[in-house]
Amino acid sequence: MALVRKPTSNPLGAAERTALLEDPGFGRVFTDHMVHIRWDSAQGWHDGELVPYGPLALDPATAVFHYAQEIFEGLKAYRQPDGSVAVFRPQANAERLRRSARRMAMAELPDELFLESVEALVQQDLDWVPTKDGQALYLRPFVIATEVGLGVRPSAAYSYLLIASPVGAYFPRGVHPVTVWLSTEFTRAAPGGTGEAKTGGNYAASLIAQQQAAAQGCDQVVWLDAAEHRWVEEMGGMNLCFVYGTGSDARIVTPELTGTLLPGITRDSLLTLAGDLGYAVEERRISTEEWREGNASGAISEVFACGTAAVITPVGQVKSAAGEWSVGDGGSGPVALQLRQALLDIQHGAAPDPHGWMHRI
Ligand code: PLP
Ligand code: COI
Repeated sequence: MALVRKPTSNPLGAAERTALLEDPGFGRVFTDHMVHIRWDSAQGWHDGELVPYGPLALDPATAVFHYAQEIFEGLKAYRQPDGSVAVFRPQANAERLRRSARRMAMAELPDELFLESVEALVQQDLDWVPTKDGQALYLRPFVIATEVGLGVRPSAAYSYLLIASPVGAYFPRGVHPVTVWLSTEFTRAAPGGTGEAKTGGNYAASLIAQQQAAAQGCDQVVWLDAAEHRWVEEMGGMNLCFVYGTGSDARIVTPELTGTLLPGITRDSLLTLAGDLGYAVEERRISTEEWREGNASGAISEVFACGTAAVITPVGQVKSAAGEWSVGDGGSGPVALQLRQALLDIQHGAAPDPHGWMHRI
């Protein structure tokens, strides 16, 4: 299905766009266009179009407003040294969107359509891809249930939308280490739940704990397992990695994918890159006691968060109802910074791309 292009006759002027790209923050500014593709049980995916960015008119009884049948993705397009643009691992996001759709009993968007939508929007809004260090064009694909009616059942109609937002650092202080709050009162995901799907409800349910984290002076909440509140899972919008040892003996350990945490594409990429750089990698369970004792004994030298929005952000300080501790000296560790640079160099085209991750537009 070819997307019909209906570009705006009134794009934002170059001077205004340049001003917005100076310091866009995260997810506050949007480009001139969006993609919209519809699905219904009779026609399948149809009426795909690239249209001016703007509001949707939806009936108040539209299913997504009531029962939250919704999924989304997040990926970035990066300006390359020759001025062209490349997107990081869009195929992986297409596949994860389909897995999320399956879990939420929604129509699955074919990967070719996902990739076509990304290519069409980035091409159309190419001038919105920022050029400054640390910036990228964040792409937000999502699918909503659009059947009108209050019956609780999988919707018979969906809309896939793709919007784009030029972004800088997710955390206002950039790569400065963050302080995290171990949540033992609330649970993000339980076995058999929706933890490994990228669905809006997971985030809605996490906000109260994020609020609690902020009240404790923390930047982010760390989720623990539902049964024992003992095993580290992930953060509100990022996966977690632990560095054991230092120098060439360093080992990267990350919580295994138990079905209750999001299988991050950054996480997966870093496990590969860490191997390339000669570090041992391990996916296994890590308890909060192991974290605390590992920091006290010096066995754990660094901890960092990783995700599309956050890239790699070191964790400097941990707080919990049972007390608080520092990770290493509380600063940014060398392994986190090395991995961050290696990843950014591939994404920005400053280093070869041995795994074929970059998708040229
Ligand atoms: N965990 C959660 C809950 C997330 O929302 C994200 C962000 O997408 C991640 C982890 C990291 O995933 P990715 O690296 O694919 O962005
Ligand atoms: C992303 O990193 O793409 C996410 O979806 C996380 C969100 C907190 C912005």
